[in-house]
Amino acid sequence: MAKVMIIGSGGREHALGWKISQSPDVSEVLYSPGNAGTEEGKGRNIPLDAAKPENFDALTSQLRADPVDLVIVGPEAPLVSGIEARLKDIAPVFGPSSDAAALEADKFFSYRIMSELDIPQALSIICRNTEDAKLAIRTMNGLGAARNGLVMKARGLTGGKGVYVCDSVEEALDEVAIHGNKYGHEVLIAERLVGEEFSVFGISDGKRVIPLEFAVQDHKRLLDNDQGVNTGGMGAYGPTSIAKPQLIRRISEDILTPVISKMRYEGREYKGFIYAGIMLTEEGPKVLEFNVRFGDPECQPAMMLVKNDLYHLLSAAVDGTLHEQKIECNPGSATCVILASRGYPEQHQKGSSITGIAEAENIRGVKVFHSGTAIKDGQLVTSGGRILGVTAYSEHGIEISTHRAYQAASLIQITDGFRYRRDIARSELNRNEPF
Ligand code: AMP
Ligand code: GLY
Repeated sequence: MAKVMIIGSGGREHALGWKISQSPDVSEVLYSPGNAGTEEGKGRNIPLDAAKPENFDALTSQLRADPVDLVIVGPEAPLVSGIEARLKDIAPVFGPSSDAAALEADKFFSYRIMSELDIPQALSIICRNTEDAKLAIRTMNGLGAARNGLVMKARGLTGGKGVYVCDSVEEALDEVAIHGNKYGHEVLIAERLVGEEFSVFGISDGKRVIPLEFAVQDHKRLLDNDQGVNTGGMGAYGPTSIAKPQLIRRISEDILTPVISKMRYEGREYKGFIYAGIMLTEEGPKVLEFNVRFGDPECQPAMMLVKNDLYHLLSAAVDGTLHEQKIECNPGSATCVILASRGYPEQHQKGSSITGIAEAENIRGVKVFHSGTAIKDGQLVTSGGRILGVTAYSEHGIEISTHRAYQAASLIQITDGFRYRRDIARSELNRNEPF
C-alpha cells in the first residue's frame, strides 16, 4: 500500500487528496500543511508548511524519517523555488523542476517559448521599465493592436493579481503610471484578445503529455457578470461546451506537446501538470498563459470528472510510463462555487466560525473542499480569503450539478458572512446546447 504526500493548503490540494484517497492502493495521504478539511479519511496533516522554501530542509528530514511513495506539489511557489531538485533523491516527485517552472514564473520566458514554437498568443512587447511600457503602448496603438484595449502583465509571480486589462490606450498609460511598480517595472504589454476563455490541463511524464479530455471554465472576476477585479478564481465548472474534445486534442497536439518537447530539449525536467489558459478567438485558440500546476478552483470540479485512479496516473507520469495510461472521464458535469471572505481579495477576516458543511454534503454529489479553514478551540473557523469550494457532480449535466452546488452553499453559515458569485456556470447554462 502506498503513502502519498501533498504539498500545499488550498482547495486544489484537498481535491487532489480526496481523489487520490479513492485509490485502493493508497493507505495514507499526508498533507504539508493541509487545512482543516484535509484531515479526513486517509488524510493526515503534517505541522510543517513545505510550500515555503525555508521549510525544505525540515521536509527532507521528515521524508527520510517517514518515507512516502509519491509527493505531489500543489502550488507554483515551491516548484519555482526548486522543491523538485531538493526531493528527487528522497521521494518520487510529481511537479516540474524550477527550470521548467519558469514557464509560469517568468512571462518573458513563456513568451519566448511560444514565439519560438509559433504557438498562437496575443501580440506582445517585452518591457523592462516604465518608459519601455509607455512606448510599447503607443507602438501597439500604431499597429492597430489596441482596438479592443491592452493588457499589462507583470513578469513574475503575482498570485493571479498582476494582470491589468485596460479598455483603452489612455487607461493603459494610467495603469503604467499607477501600478507600474506594484509587481516590478518589468511587464509585457499585450494586445487584448476577445473571445471565450477556458483552461486545458495535461499530465506530463517529461517526454509526452496526455490531456484531460474536458476543459474547465474558471470565473476569475470577483463579481457576477465578470465585473470587478481579477481574483484567484471565484468558481469553476466543467466540461465547458466551448471546447469540444476535438479542440482539446488539437490544443494538446499543437500547444502542450511542443512545449513539453521544448522543455526536454532545453534540459528542463517536466513531470507534472501543465495548464494552458486559452482564449478561443475568431482566429482560433490563443494561449493567455501557462501554469505548471493544476488550477484552483478548476481542480475541484476536475477531480470529480476524472475516472482514473489518480495514484496510478501520477505514478506513471513520474515513472515515465504515461504511454500505458488512458484518461477516462465520468459522464456529466461538475460545478464549484467558492465561498470567500467578505473582504476578499483585498483582505480577509480570520476566526469566524463555519457551520453547515455536514448538511451541505448530505446533498447527492456534493463535496465541500476546504481552503482557508483552520481548527481553533475545537471549532472550524476561517483562516483565508477563499474559504470553501462547494463542489457538486451530476451525471445528468451542468444544470443539476450547478443546482446542487448552490443548494449546498445555501446551507453553510459563517459568522462574519461571506461572498460568492451567483452566476457560476450560467454562461454554460445559457448556451443550452447538448455537449
Ligand atoms: P493570466 O494570469 O495571464 O491568465 O491573466 C489573467 C486574466 O486576464 C485571464 O484569465 C484573462 O481573463 C485576462 N487576460 C490575460 N491576458 C489577456 C489578453 N491578452 N487579452 C485579454 N484578456 C487577457
Ligand atoms: N484559477 C486560476 C489559477 O489557478 O491560476
